[in-house]
Amino acid sequence: MPANFTAVARADLLARLRATRAPLAEARTLPRAVYTSKAILDLEYHELFGKAWLAVMRDDDLPGAGSFLTHEIGGERILIIRGEDLRLRAFHNICRHRGSHLIDAARGQLQGEIRCPYHAWTYGYDGRLTHASRTALDFATAELGLTPIALDTFGGFVFINLGPAAGSLAESLADLPDLSGYRLSDLQRVHRVDYEINANWKIAVENYSECYHCPAVHPQLSRISDLVSGHFEEGISFNGGPMRLRPGFSTMSMSGWSKLGPMRGLPADKGELVHYYVVYPNLMLGLHPDYLLVHRAWPHAADRSHIVCEWFVPPEHRADPAFNADDILEFWDLTNRQDWALCERVQRGATSMGYREGPYHPAERCVHAFDKWYAEQLSDWLWSA
Ligand code: FES
Ligand SMILES: [Fe+2]
Repeated sequence: MPANFTAVARADLLARLRATRAPLAEARTLPRAVYTSKAILDLEYHELFGKAWLAVMRDDDLPGAGSFLTHEIGGERILIIRGEDLRLRAFHNICRHRGSHLIDAARGQLQGEIRCPYHAWTYGYDGRLTHASRTALDFATAELGLTPIALDTFGGFVFINLGPAAGSLAESLADLPDLSGYRLSDLQRVHRVDYEINANWKIAVENYSECYHCPAVHPQLSRISDLVSGHFEEGISFNGGPMRLRPGFSTMSMSGWSKLGPMRGLPADKGELVHYYVVYPNLMLGLHPDYLLVHRAWPHAADRSHIVCEWFVPPEHRADPAFNADDILEFWDLTNRQDWALCERVQRGATSMGYREGPYHPAERCVHAFDKWYAEQLSDWLWSA
């Protein structure tokens, strides 16, 4: 827990966060420090990304025993690997001998063992220490396995939780709306784009959460989506809601037309809606009648983020000879880039001494819900700091 807040700075921050936590009509946006302060980013790494369930990959990203993927968040290096028993497990990507970082590659396939590059201790895919070079292994090898990290899956997404007291993922997502009509576990990724943006990760989440900016910035999106049709849903783990497609359109894409129609089994009332949800802290789900769009925002610095954007479609569409994702990929890449430019503008504003907390427009209810959730968390951390 970083302690580099003076009492005055902390009291000032808490007062400003109280203003964000007020009801929408009186509330004020978050203070600039949450977008610029390294000390607050360190708190987020420790208290939020270090304790929350985080969606890091899809279950089918690692096809067989020994296939692995590494991930880094706030300096914590994580190894996710499929075992001989085909179970996925997550570990801290460091050796139990003298702590060497184990695997550098972002992903790959191991050949029978995890081997430390330093003194060549080896571990099984299940994390057990199997060989310590030039020793008789007369120490308690059972206690020298790789340090495990909690891992669970939901809707085909693999979540990890770095916290020492991680509760169950199912419980933490229990209040999500019923998404079963979208067959999340069956969906297949058709594309991924990684964006690096010069803005705090929360600015990207806030931008995702409103369409107040859409008429001015997204002419292609505004042609297809009824911008005032949204209504608001909120739980402990999420906020968001649906927006209606304008008459004559069947999906969000350059053409606005879905050649293959809605995914099989989708309830009829979802056919004209796109549901957007932010699942705290950093997972954004865009549920379209015929595809799923996912954004994940990862902090790299107080003023820099890595945004992973992925598109998923049902297997019956993927297998159809008429399937072509270009229409949706082009649409969202264009929209994303329009949004990142806005996010970077806000980041530049947050670095200014002239920044003042502003009011929320009624159309920014989801932004306020996210900011309020965040302000509550940050206030708790500051009280206990
Ligand atoms: S640090 Fe890994 S074997 Fe020594
Ligand atoms: Fe936007």
